[in-house]
Amino acid sequence: MESVSSHRLAGLLGDLTSDRQPLFLALSSRVRLLIGDGRLPVGARLPAERDLAAALQLSRVTVTSAYTRLREDGWAASRRGAGTWTTLPAGPQPGPWVPAPADDHRIDLAHAAPSAPPEVPAAYAAALQDLPRLLTSHGYHPAGLPELRARIADRYTARGLPTTPEQVLVTGGALHGLAVTFQALLRRADRLLIEQPTYPNAVDAARALGVRTVPVALAAEDSDAWLDAVEAALRETRPAAAYLMPDFQNPTGLLLDATGRERLARALHDAGTVAVVDETNVELGLDALPDAPLAAHGAGHVSVGSLSKAFWGGLRIGWVRADTDIVQQLTAAAVLTQMSGPVLEQLAACHLLDGADAALEARRDGLWQARAALVAALGEHLPAWHVPVPAGGLVLWCQLPSKRSTALAAAAADHGLRLAAGPRFGSGHALDDRLRLPFTQPPEVLRRAVERLAAADAAAGNDSHHDPGLLLDVV
Ligand SMILES: Cc1ncc(COP(=O)(O)O)c(C=O)c1O
Repeated sequence: MESVSSHRLAGLLGDLTSDRQPLFLALSSRVRLLIGDGRLPVGARLPAERDLAAALQLSRVTVTSAYTRLREDGWAASRRGAGTWTTLPAGPQPGPWVPAPADDHRIDLAHAAPSAPPEVPAAYAAALQDLPRLLTSHGYHPAGLPELRARIADRYTARGLPTTPEQVLVTGGALHGLAVTFQALLRRADRLLIEQPTYPNAVDAARALGVRTVPVALAAEDSDAWLDAVEAALRETRPAAAYLMPDFQNPTGLLLDATGRERLARALHDAGTVAVVDETNVELGLDALPDAPLAAHGAGHVSVGSLSKAFWGGLRIGWVRADTDIVQQLTAAAVLTQMSGPVLEQLAACHLLDGADAALEARRDGLWQARAALVAALGEHLPAWHVPVPAGGLVLWCQLPSKRSTALAAAAADHGLRLAAGPRFGSGHALDDRLRLPFTQPPEVLRRAVERLAAADAAAGNDSHHDPGLLLDVV
């Protein structure tokens, strides 16, 4: 179990006297915030009360009361002789994130899912021509259509990760691939390191297996700090697996360079941790292109990809790339719920991959213009927001001037706008000062959306009905 020294915790806590509340409450609130945003890992041993009291120059009673409050609220647990360690309370869990139905009146900025480019219907038409030659067989291909596995393998080889078709399992999208991978690699109570913020559906899939997550705070502007924190968490918690997105991370947009990948792979190797790398956004480099896959830097890692963002989510084509024996294991797990993927979609995917380079250039072009329009509109209508521009991906991860993302998402519904509030991308207890905004719609729609967003923001104002313990501004 990782131990947090009193010195390190004192540094993270900052000056408690600036909070206008009793010191024990200020202390417990700040610890909650540190756990909620991932700076204090779940399962980390907190310093002994006496040591923390000395480091903070507070009375021991203050620290004892703060620890008691944390235990009462589910943020810590203790056992005689084992000390006190951090935990996550049971709620609020928002439940599964089911895509909302398309709605004529509301502009949807909750989902980062682009519509289909013209190549998609063309690929279906070509697939229909191919279909007759397959109709004479039984049509079941549990690991995927051989010609599609070969094309996916070739793309990995071209990206610097030599791959054979036997190392590829075709899945019903990336999420299916992630779920099957977690199911095959993880057991109940295993630890899974996750980025914080992250893609929530994947985490929900892992949690459904009884896996314990270890969130590590990530900020796109400082990948070195993130790598430091990941190294510490890997060393101290030795998780069975890590769910990582080094290629335009969803939602922060972080792109890890080759040196960062090398460092990450070394730390994973030293901890005996398997990386499950979500490459859903890898083809969406707008200002920079990703380096070779993380799996090229170390043996045994699993890569998960998809055509959903590069082409269209309705295809339901994704894949897992791993060592051959793992792919066999994953195939056995996958057939428990789906005997085989649809043949027509896999044939269409082959055509899409054959023409991918030109189609992706057009996709990136469109996203580049949409991103520029969204950034400009936010600058005009919401100038107090901090809007870092990611080098790729599909979303902006905006910093709001106060913790009001949940209130804003609620107000937006009345202004013809669908939003996903920042906490959806974390453990549910932090990130209310963040909002994810996809640039997957045409520029004119995004400009209209931002006008509505500004109106909703004015309506939400300071009307925040959140737990005051989570509203503290921590250094
Ligand atoms: C990071 C990430 N991973 C996985 C998925 C799921 O993709 P798919 O539609 O291929 O299941 C998404 C979709 O939003 C995503 O953003």
